[in-house]
Amino acid sequence: MAKDGKGRTEPGYSRHVFICGHQRPEGSPRGCCSEKNSLEVMQRLKEMVRQGGLDNVRVQKSGCLDFCENGISCVVYPEGIWYSLNGSEEQLIRLMEQHLRDGLTVEEMQMNLEP
Ligand code: FES
Repeated sequence: MAKDGKGRTEPGYSRHVFICGHQRPEGSPRGCCSEKNSLEVMQRLKEMVRQGGLDNVRVQKSGCLDFCENGISCVVYPEGIWYSLNGSEEQLIRLMEQHLRDGLTVEEMQMNLEP
């Protein structure tokens, strides 16, 4: 029977986290998440998820999620909750423990989508 890298025999995850890794040229008016170290943040969250044993959570890099000014942009499915990450360890711990493990939105980290 085929298995994925985590030893699972069926595709699909209970939660899927996308973190924008898009990069724009320096000085671009919208900026980009990668200049805010989004790829390092994504790697750190991946490590934390692995160390925490959350085998049904997948953390992946995405392209631009179109809310560049609010980045580091992050969205968690299936709930479709959007977060603005600042890259701190404290935020990542809360995201992992409260949302990815316990299924509760971290309201104070949600992206402000007001114009
Ligand atoms: S560059 Fe990250 S949301 Fe656009």
